[in-house]
Amino acid sequence: MSRSTDSSRWLAAVTLALACCTGAFAQDKAAAPQPGAPVTNAPTAAPTPAPGAGGAPQGIQGQNIFTVKPDADADPNYLKQNNGERNRVQPGNNAPMWRQVSSGTQGYTSLPKSEAPEAGVLVQRFVTYPGSQHTNAGEAWRQVRNQWLIPYGGALLLIVLGALAIFYFAKGPIGEHEAGDGGRRIERFTPFERSAHWANAIAFCTLAISGMVMAFGRALLLPVIGGTLFGWLTYGLKTLHNFVGPLFLVSLVIVFVTFLRDNFPQKGDLRWLLTLGGMLSKDHRELPSHRFNAGEKVVFWGGVFLLGIVVTASGLVMDKLLPGIDYVRQTMQVAHMVHNVATVLMIAMFLGHIYIGTIGMRGAYSAMREGWVGDAWAREHHAYWYDEIAAGRIPAERSTPAGRPVHGGPARTA
Ligand code: HEM
Repeated sequence: MSRSTDSSRWLAAVTLALACCTGAFAQDKAAAPQPGAPVTNAPTAAPTPAPGAGGAPQGIQGQNIFTVKPDADADPNYLKQNNGERNRVQPGNNAPMWRQVSSGTQGYTSLPKSEAPEAGVLVQRFVTYPGSQHTNAGEAWRQVRNQWLIPYGGALLLIVLGALAIFYFAKGPIGEHEAGDGGRRIERFTPFERSAHWANAIAFCTLAISGMVMAFGRALLLPVIGGTLFGWLTYGLKTLHNFVGPLFLVSLVIVFVTFLRDNFPQKGDLRWLLTLGGMLSKDHRELPSHRFNAGEKVVFWGGVFLLGIVVTASGLVMDKLLPGIDYVRQTMQVAHMVHNVATVLMIAMFLGHIYIGTIGMRGAYSAMREGWVGDAWAREHHAYWYDEIAAGRIPAERSTPAGRPVHGGPARTA
Protein backbone atom coordinates (compact mmCIF):
# COMPACT_ATOMS: atom_id res chain seq x y z
CA MET A 1 0.00 0.00 0.00
CA SER A 2 2.95 2.25 -0.30
CA ARG A 3 3.25 3.16 -3.92
CA SER A 4 3.22 6.50 -5.58
CA THR A 5 -0.23 6.09 -7.14
CA ASP A 6 -1.55 5.89 -3.61
CA SER A 7 -0.11 9.22 -2.61
CA SER A 8 -1.59 10.88 -5.66
CA ARG A 9 -4.91 9.19 -5.05
CA TRP A 10 -5.01 10.27 -1.46
CA LEU A 11 -3.88 13.75 -2.43
CA ALA A 12 -6.67 13.89 -4.98
CA ALA A 13 -9.21 12.63 -2.46
CA VAL A 14 -8.13 15.09 0.19
CA THR A 15 -8.14 17.98 -2.27
CA LEU A 16 -11.54 16.90 -3.45
CA ALA A 17 -12.88 16.70 0.10
CA LEU A 18 -11.50 20.12 0.97
CA ALA A 19 -12.90 21.53 -2.22
CA CYS A 20 -16.36 20.16 -1.41
CA CYS A 21 -16.27 21.61 2.08
CA THR A 22 -15.11 25.04 1.04
CA GLY A 23 -17.42 25.22 -1.97
CA ALA A 24 -14.58 25.57 -4.44
CA PHE A 25 -16.48 23.43 -6.91
CA ALA A 26 -19.24 25.96 -7.24
CA GLN A 27 -22.64 25.53 -8.67
CA ASP A 28 -23.57 27.18 -11.88
CA LYS A 29 -27.19 27.67 -11.02
CA ALA A 30 -28.23 28.52 -14.51
CA ALA A 31 -26.69 25.31 -15.74
CA ALA A 32 -27.96 23.17 -12.86
CA PRO A 33 -29.80 20.12 -14.14
CA GLN A 34 -33.56 20.02 -13.74
CA PRO A 35 -35.38 16.97 -12.38
CA GLY A 36 -35.35 14.24 -14.94
CA ALA A 37 -32.66 15.96 -16.98
CA PRO A 38 -29.74 13.82 -18.17
CA VAL A 39 -27.05 13.34 -15.60
CA THR A 40 -23.37 13.86 -16.17
CA ASN A 41 -20.36 13.25 -14.04
CA ALA A 42 -18.51 16.24 -15.39
CA PRO A 43 -17.85 19.17 -13.14
CA THR A 44 -20.14 22.12 -13.51
CA ALA A 45 -18.91 25.13 -15.44
CA ALA A 46 -16.71 27.81 -13.99
CA PRO A 47 -17.86 29.14 -10.62
CA THR A 48 -20.43 31.90 -10.87
CA PRO A 49 -20.48 34.82 -8.49
CA ALA A 50 -22.77 34.08 -5.56
CA PRO A 51 -26.15 35.71 -5.96
CA GLY A 52 -26.97 38.72 -3.88
CA ALA A 53 -30.06 39.31 -1.75
CA GLY A 54 -32.78 36.77 -2.34
CA GLY A 55 -30.35 34.15 -3.65
CA ALA A 56 -28.04 31.89 -1.68
CA PRO A 57 -25.88 33.82 0.75
CA GLN A 58 -22.36 34.77 -0.31
CA GLY A 59 -19.91 31.89 -0.09
CA ILE A 60 -22.53 29.16 0.05
CA GLN A 61 -22.18 27.05 -3.02
CA GLY A 62 -24.81 24.34 -3.06
CA GLN A 63 -24.12 22.04 -5.94
CA ASN A 64 -20.79 20.37 -6.35
CA ILE A 65 -19.03 17.80 -8.38
CA PHE A 66 -21.44 15.13 -7.19
CA THR A 67 -24.19 15.57 -9.75
CA VAL A 68 -27.74 14.40 -9.26
CA LYS A 69 -28.66 10.84 -10.01
CA PRO A 70 -32.44 10.61 -10.51
CA ASP A 71 -32.52 6.97 -9.43
CA ALA A 72 -33.41 5.06 -6.31
CA ASP A 73 -30.37 5.94 -4.24
CA ALA A 74 -30.46 9.66 -5.00
CA ASP A 75 -32.30 11.96 -2.62
CA PRO A 76 -35.58 12.83 -4.43
CA ASN A 77 -35.59 16.26 -2.81
CA TYR A 78 -32.05 16.96 -3.74
CA LEU A 79 -32.73 19.26 -6.68
CA LYS A 80 -35.59 21.08 -5.04
CA GLN A 81 -33.58 21.62 -1.89
CA ASN A 82 -30.40 22.54 -3.64
CA ASN A 83 -32.01 24.84 -6.14
CA GLY A 84 -32.13 27.53 -3.55
CA GLU A 85 -34.74 26.51 -0.99
CA ARG A 86 -32.36 24.81 1.41
CA ASN A 87 -29.75 27.47 0.93
CA ARG A 88 -32.26 30.13 1.89
CA VAL A 89 -33.57 28.46 5.04
CA GLN A 90 -30.46 26.60 6.13
CA PRO A 91 -27.48 28.40 4.65
CA GLY A 92 -24.41 26.21 4.68
CA ASN A 93 -26.31 22.94 5.04
CA ASN A 94 -25.12 20.70 2.28
CA ALA A 95 -26.37 17.47 3.81
CA PRO A 96 -27.83 16.15 0.55
CA MET A 97 -24.41 16.30 -1.04
CA TRP A 98 -22.85 14.38 1.84
CA ARG A 99 -25.65 11.82 1.64
CA GLN A 100 -24.62 11.22 -1.93
CA VAL A 101 -20.95 11.18 -1.04
CA SER A 102 -21.51 8.57 1.66
CA SER A 103 -23.64 6.42 -0.60
CA GLY A 104 -20.61 5.90 -2.81
CA THR A 105 -21.58 8.25 -5.61
CA GLN A 106 -18.75 8.74 -8.07
CA GLY A 107 -17.65 12.35 -8.49
CA TYR A 108 -15.35 13.87 -11.05
CA THR A 109 -11.63 13.42 -10.93
CA SER A 110 -8.93 14.27 -13.41
CA LEU A 111 -6.96 11.12 -12.53
CA PRO A 112 -7.18 8.47 -15.25
CA LYS A 113 -9.55 5.62 -14.37
CA SER A 114 -6.97 3.03 -15.38
CA GLU A 115 -4.60 4.38 -12.71
CA ALA A 116 -7.03 5.13 -9.94
CA PRO A 117 -10.38 3.47 -10.55
CA GLU A 118 -11.91 4.80 -7.34
CA ALA A 119 -10.35 8.24 -7.12
CA GLY A 120 -13.70 9.94 -7.69
CA VAL A 121 -15.32 8.07 -4.80
CA LEU A 122 -14.83 9.71 -1.43
CA VAL A 123 -16.76 7.13 0.59
CA GLN A 124 -16.92 3.55 -0.57
CA ARG A 125 -20.18 2.01 -1.77
CA PHE A 126 -22.25 0.01 0.72
CA VAL A 127 -20.97 -3.48 1.38
CA THR A 128 -20.65 -5.15 4.70
CA TYR A 129 -18.50 -7.97 6.05
CA PRO A 130 -19.47 -10.93 8.23
CA GLY A 131 -19.05 -9.84 11.83
CA SER A 132 -20.10 -6.23 11.32
CA GLN A 133 -23.54 -4.65 11.15
CA HIS A 134 -22.15 -1.54 9.55
CA THR A 135 -23.16 -0.79 5.98
CA ASN A 136 -20.26 1.50 5.20
CA ALA A 137 -17.58 -0.88 3.96
CA GLY A 138 -14.65 1.05 5.40
CA GLU A 139 -16.25 1.16 8.83
CA ALA A 140 -17.38 -2.49 8.56
CA TRP A 141 -13.80 -3.53 7.75
CA ARG A 142 -12.47 -1.47 10.67
CA GLN A 143 -14.95 -3.10 13.05
CA VAL A 144 -14.16 -6.62 11.86
CA ARG A 145 -10.45 -5.95 12.28
CA ASN A 146 -10.60 -4.21 15.66
CA GLN A 147 -13.41 -6.15 17.30
CA TRP A 148 -12.77 -9.65 15.93
CA LEU A 149 -9.46 -10.27 14.22
CA ILE A 150 -7.17 -8.40 16.62
CA PRO A 151 -8.66 -9.60 19.95
CA TYR A 152 -9.27 -13.21 18.87
CA GLY A 153 -5.98 -13.44 16.98
CA GLY A 154 -4.16 -12.05 20.02
CA ALA A 155 -5.99 -14.49 22.31
CA LEU A 156 -5.01 -17.46 20.12
CA LEU A 157 -1.34 -16.47 20.24
CA LEU A 158 -1.47 -16.06 24.03
CA ILE A 159 -3.13 -19.48 24.41
CA VAL A 160 -0.42 -21.10 22.27
CA LEU A 161 2.34 -19.36 24.26
CA GLY A 162 0.68 -20.38 27.54
CA ALA A 163 0.29 -24.01 26.40
CA LEU A 164 3.95 -24.18 25.38
CA ALA A 165 5.03 -22.69 28.72
CA ILE A 166 2.92 -25.22 30.65
CA PHE A 167 4.30 -28.06 28.53
CA TYR A 168 7.87 -26.92 29.10
CA PHE A 169 7.52 -26.58 32.85
CA ALA A 170 5.62 -29.87 33.16
CA LYS A 171 7.78 -31.99 30.88
CA GLY A 172 11.02 -30.11 30.14
CA PRO A 173 12.96 -30.67 26.94
CA ILE A 174 12.16 -33.86 25.01
CA GLY A 175 14.85 -36.51 24.58
CA GLU A 176 17.85 -37.73 26.50
CA HIS A 177 20.61 -37.18 23.98
CA GLU A 178 22.35 -34.02 22.92
CA ALA A 179 23.02 -33.58 19.20
CA GLY A 180 26.61 -34.77 19.45
CA ASP A 181 25.93 -37.97 21.45
CA GLY A 182 26.84 -41.27 19.83
CA GLY A 183 29.70 -42.86 17.96
CA ARG A 184 29.41 -41.48 14.44
CA ARG A 185 28.62 -38.04 13.18
CA ILE A 186 25.81 -37.88 10.70
CA GLU A 187 25.18 -34.91 8.51
CA ARG A 188 21.57 -33.88 9.16
CA PHE A 189 21.49 -30.65 7.14
CA THR A 190 23.83 -29.62 4.33
CA PRO A 191 25.20 -26.05 4.32
CA PHE A 192 22.75 -25.17 1.53
CA GLU A 193 19.79 -26.54 3.52
CA ARG A 194 20.85 -24.59 6.59
CA SER A 195 21.30 -21.37 4.61
CA ALA A 196 17.83 -21.77 3.10
CA HIS A 197 16.32 -22.50 6.52
CA TRP A 198 17.97 -19.54 8.27
CA ALA A 199 17.23 -17.08 5.48
CA ASN A 200 13.59 -18.09 5.69
CA ALA A 201 13.59 -18.03 9.50
CA ILE A 202 15.12 -14.54 9.66
CA ALA A 203 12.64 -13.18 7.10
CA PHE A 204 9.77 -14.85 8.93
CA CYS A 205 10.73 -13.41 12.32
CA THR A 206 11.19 -9.93 10.81
CA LEU A 207 7.72 -10.12 9.24
CA ALA A 208 6.10 -11.62 12.32
CA ILE A 209 7.53 -9.00 14.69
CA SER A 210 6.82 -6.02 12.40
CA GLY A 211 3.36 -7.41 11.58
CA MET A 212 2.50 -7.91 15.24
CA VAL A 213 3.53 -4.35 16.06
CA MET A 214 1.18 -3.16 13.30
CA ALA A 215 -1.61 -5.39 14.55
CA PHE A 216 -1.30 -5.25 18.33
CA GLY A 217 0.96 -2.24 18.91
CA ARG A 218 -1.86 0.26 19.18
CA ALA A 219 -3.29 -1.59 22.16
CA LEU A 220 -0.06 -2.78 23.79
CA LEU A 221 2.75 -0.37 22.85
CA LEU A 222 1.17 3.01 22.23
CA PRO A 223 0.09 3.56 25.86
CA VAL A 224 3.61 2.65 27.05
CA ILE A 225 5.95 4.41 24.60
CA GLY A 226 3.74 7.31 23.49
CA GLY A 227 2.56 8.54 20.12
CA THR A 228 5.77 9.99 18.68
CA LEU A 229 7.93 6.93 19.22
CA PHE A 230 5.12 4.58 18.28
CA GLY A 231 4.51 6.55 15.07
CA TRP A 232 8.16 6.31 14.00
CA LEU A 233 8.42 2.69 15.07
CA THR A 234 5.37 1.54 13.13
CA TYR A 235 6.33 3.61 10.11
CA GLY A 236 9.80 2.03 10.06
CA LEU A 237 8.52 -1.49 10.68
CA LYS A 238 5.76 -1.17 8.10
CA THR A 239 8.34 -0.13 5.49
CA LEU A 240 10.59 -3.02 6.54
CA HIS A 241 7.62 -5.40 6.32
CA ASN A 242 6.76 -4.30 2.79
CA PHE A 243 10.39 -4.79 1.75
CA VAL A 244 11.04 -8.14 3.45
CA GLY A 245 7.71 -9.65 2.29
CA PRO A 246 8.85 -10.43 -1.27
CA LEU A 247 12.23 -11.71 0.04
CA PHE A 248 10.33 -14.05 2.33
CA LEU A 249 8.45 -15.40 -0.67
CA VAL A 250 11.70 -16.22 -2.47
CA SER A 251 13.17 -17.95 0.60
CA LEU A 252 9.91 -19.84 1.11
CA VAL A 253 10.02 -21.24 -2.41
CA ILE A 254 13.65 -22.32 -1.90
CA VAL A 255 12.80 -24.00 1.43
CA PHE A 256 9.82 -25.73 -0.16
CA VAL A 257 11.82 -27.15 -3.05
CA THR A 258 14.79 -28.08 -0.83
CA PHE A 259 12.83 -30.06 1.75
CA LEU A 260 10.01 -31.38 -0.45
CA ARG A 261 11.58 -34.78 -1.07
CA ASP A 262 11.67 -35.73 2.62
CA ASN A 263 8.21 -34.42 3.47
CA PHE A 264 5.99 -36.79 1.51
CA PRO A 265 3.80 -39.01 3.71
CA GLN A 266 5.50 -42.27 4.65
CA LYS A 267 4.79 -45.45 6.56
CA GLY A 268 4.35 -44.77 10.27
CA ASP A 269 3.32 -41.11 9.88
CA LEU A 270 -0.35 -41.72 10.68
CA ARG A 271 0.46 -43.63 13.86
CA TRP A 272 2.86 -40.89 14.84
CA LEU A 273 0.15 -38.27 14.37
CA LEU A 274 -2.56 -40.22 16.21
CA THR A 275 -0.36 -40.56 19.28
CA LEU A 276 1.36 -37.18 18.89
CA GLY A 277 4.67 -38.85 18.36
CA GLY A 278 4.10 -41.30 21.23
CA MET A 279 3.16 -38.70 23.87
CA LEU A 280 -0.39 -40.08 24.02
CA SER A 281 0.74 -43.73 23.97
CA LYS A 282 0.94 -45.86 27.14
CA ASP A 283 4.70 -45.83 27.59
CA HIS A 284 5.18 -42.26 26.23
CA ARG A 285 8.15 -43.45 24.20
CA GLU A 286 8.89 -41.42 21.09
CA LEU A 287 7.74 -43.25 17.97
CA PRO A 288 10.17 -43.93 15.14
CA SER A 289 10.07 -41.55 12.21
CA HIS A 290 11.84 -40.88 8.94
CA ARG A 291 14.09 -37.87 8.29
CA PHE A 292 11.16 -35.63 9.28
CA ASN A 293 8.43 -36.81 11.62
CA ALA A 294 4.71 -36.41 10.90
CA GLY A 295 4.51 -33.23 13.04
CA GLU A 296 7.24 -31.62 10.95
CA LYS A 297 5.39 -32.71 7.80
CA VAL A 298 2.20 -31.03 9.05
CA VAL A 299 4.15 -27.81 9.56
CA PHE A 300 5.67 -28.21 6.09
CA TRP A 301 2.36 -28.74 4.23
CA GLY A 302 0.10 -26.63 6.45
CA GLY A 303 2.46 -23.82 7.43
CA VAL A 304 5.01 -23.55 4.62
CA PHE A 305 2.88 -24.62 1.67
CA LEU A 306 -0.79 -23.79 2.37
CA LEU A 307 -0.50 -20.80 4.70
CA GLY A 308 2.59 -19.72 2.76
CA ILE A 309 0.51 -19.35 -0.39
CA VAL A 310 -2.33 -17.50 1.36
CA VAL A 311 -0.06 -15.21 3.37
CA THR A 312 2.22 -14.26 0.49
CA ALA A 313 -0.59 -13.88 -2.06
CA SER A 314 -2.64 -11.62 0.22
CA GLY A 315 0.49 -9.67 1.17
CA LEU A 316 1.47 -9.17 -2.47
CA VAL A 317 -2.06 -7.93 -3.20
CA MET A 318 -1.69 -5.32 -0.44
CA ASP A 319 1.66 -4.35 -1.96
CA LYS A 320 -0.07 -4.11 -5.36
CA LEU A 321 2.46 -6.48 -6.86
CA LEU A 322 0.13 -9.07 -8.42
CA PRO A 323 -0.88 -8.38 -12.02
CA GLY A 324 -4.48 -8.43 -13.33
CA ILE A 325 -6.16 -7.28 -10.13
CA ASP A 326 -8.54 -4.34 -9.73
CA TYR A 327 -6.90 -2.51 -6.84
CA VAL A 328 -9.93 -0.89 -5.25
CA ARG A 329 -10.69 -0.42 -1.56
CA GLN A 330 -12.68 -3.63 -1.25
CA THR A 331 -9.83 -5.70 -2.71
CA MET A 332 -7.50 -4.24 -0.08
CA GLN A 333 -9.97 -4.84 2.74
CA VAL A 334 -10.53 -8.50 1.82
CA ALA A 335 -6.78 -9.06 1.25
CA HIS A 336 -6.04 -7.49 4.61
CA MET A 337 -8.54 -9.67 6.51
CA VAL A 338 -7.29 -12.84 4.78
CA HIS A 339 -3.67 -11.81 5.52
CA ASN A 340 -4.45 -11.12 9.16
CA VAL A 341 -6.16 -14.49 9.78
CA ALA A 342 -3.58 -16.51 7.82
CA THR A 343 -0.58 -14.82 9.45
CA VAL A 344 -1.93 -15.35 12.96
CA LEU A 345 -2.42 -19.07 12.18
CA MET A 346 1.05 -19.19 10.67
CA ILE A 347 2.63 -17.52 13.70
CA ALA A 348 0.74 -19.91 16.02
CA MET A 349 2.00 -22.90 14.05
CA PHE A 350 5.59 -21.67 13.87
CA LEU A 351 5.63 -20.85 17.59
CA GLY A 352 5.30 -24.61 18.11
CA HIS A 353 8.03 -25.26 15.53
CA ILE A 354 10.36 -22.68 17.11
CA TYR A 355 9.70 -24.14 20.57
CA ILE A 356 10.66 -27.69 19.48
CA GLY A 357 13.63 -26.36 17.52
CA THR A 358 15.07 -24.47 20.51
CA ILE A 359 14.23 -25.22 24.15
CA GLY A 360 11.68 -27.98 23.51
CA MET A 361 14.02 -30.72 22.26
CA ARG A 362 17.61 -31.47 23.22
CA GLY A 363 20.00 -31.18 20.31
CA ALA A 364 17.52 -29.85 17.73
CA TYR A 365 18.90 -26.30 17.57
CA SER A 366 22.47 -27.47 17.39
CA ALA A 367 21.55 -29.85 14.53
CA MET A 368 20.24 -26.93 12.47
CA ARG A 369 23.11 -24.63 13.46
CA GLU A 370 26.01 -27.05 12.97
CA GLY A 371 24.38 -29.48 10.55
CA TRP A 372 25.60 -32.60 12.42
CA VAL A 373 24.10 -35.08 14.86
CA GLY A 374 25.53 -38.13 16.57
CA ASP A 375 23.94 -41.52 15.92
CA ALA A 376 22.46 -41.68 19.44
CA TRP A 377 20.41 -38.56 18.69
CA ALA A 378 19.45 -39.81 15.23
CA ARG A 379 18.36 -43.20 16.60
CA GLU A 380 16.38 -41.60 19.41
CA HIS A 381 14.36 -39.14 17.30
CA HIS A 382 14.37 -40.43 13.73
CA ALA A 383 14.80 -44.19 13.99
CA TYR A 384 13.66 -45.06 10.44
CA TRP A 385 16.01 -42.44 9.02
CA TYR A 386 18.83 -43.83 11.12
CA ASP A 387 18.09 -47.38 9.89
CA GLU A 388 18.32 -46.18 6.29
CA ILE A 389 21.68 -44.59 7.00
CA ALA A 390 22.94 -47.72 8.76
CA ALA A 391 21.78 -49.86 5.82
CA GLY A 392 23.60 -47.52 3.41
CA ARG A 393 20.40 -46.50 1.62
CA ILE A 394 20.81 -42.80 2.49
CA PRO A 395 23.38 -41.24 0.12
CA ALA A 396 26.89 -41.60 1.43
CA GLU A 397 27.58 -37.89 1.92
CA ARG A 398 24.86 -37.79 4.54
CA SER A 399 26.73 -39.97 6.99
CA THR A 400 30.26 -40.75 7.92
CA PRO A 401 31.95 -43.55 9.80
CA ALA A 402 33.37 -42.78 13.22
CA GLY A 403 36.23 -40.32 13.14
CA ARG A 404 35.96 -39.56 9.44
CA PRO A 405 33.74 -36.57 8.99
CA VAL A 406 32.62 -35.51 5.54
CA HIS A 407 32.51 -31.90 4.32
CA GLY A 408 35.44 -31.02 6.54
CA GLY A 409 33.53 -31.16 9.83
CA PRO A 410 35.51 -31.74 13.04
CA ALA A 411 36.69 -35.29 13.67
CA ARG A 412 35.09 -37.29 16.47
CA THR A 413 35.97 -40.55 18.07
CA ALA A 414 33.50 -43.12 19.36
C1 HEM B 1 5.21 -12.18 0.89
C2 HEM B 1 5.07 -12.02 2.17
C3 HEM B 1 4.32 -10.85 2.80
C4 HEM B 1 3.93 -9.66 2.27
C5 HEM B 1 4.12 -9.17 0.84
C6 HEM B 1 3.27 -8.91 3.30
C7 HEM B 1 2.70 -7.66 3.18
C8 HEM B 1 1.95 -7.02 4.14
C9 HEM B 1 1.33 -5.75 3.98
C10 HEM B 1 1.39 -4.92 2.72
C11 HEM B 1 0.68 -5.45 5.14
C12 HEM B 1 -0.11 -4.19 5.43
C13 HEM B 1 0.85 -3.14 5.90
C14 HEM B 1 0.19 -1.80 5.96
O1 HEM B 1 -0.76 -1.64 6.73
O2 HEM B 1 0.63 -0.93 5.21
C15 HEM B 1 0.89 -6.53 6.05
C16 HEM B 1 0.38 -6.61 7.33
C17 HEM B 1 0.66 -7.63 8.18
N1 HEM B 1 1.47 -8.72 7.95
FE1 HEM B 1 2.36 -9.17 6.21
N2 HEM B 1 3.29 -9.64 4.45
C18 HEM B 1 3.93 -10.84 4.17
C19 HEM B 1 4.20 -11.86 5.05
C20 HEM B 1 3.85 -11.86 6.35
C21 HEM B 1 4.20 -12.90 7.30
C22 HEM B 1 5.04 -14.12 6.98
C23 HEM B 1 3.66 -12.54 8.48
C24 HEM B 1 3.74 -13.25 9.79
C25 HEM B 1 4.52 -14.19 10.06
C26 HEM B 1 2.94 -11.30 8.30
C27 HEM B 1 2.24 -10.66 9.27
C28 HEM B 1 1.51 -9.51 9.08
C29 HEM B 1 0.69 -8.91 10.09
C30 HEM B 1 0.46 -9.48 11.50
C31 HEM B 1 0.16 -7.73 9.54
C32 HEM B 1 -0.72 -6.71 10.24
C33 HEM B 1 -2.16 -7.03 10.04
C34 HEM B 1 -3.02 -6.03 10.76
O3 HEM B 1 -2.56 -4.94 11.08
O4 HEM B 1 -4.18 -6.35 11.00
N3 HEM B 1 3.09 -10.91 7.00
N4 HEM B 1 1.68 -7.48 5.42
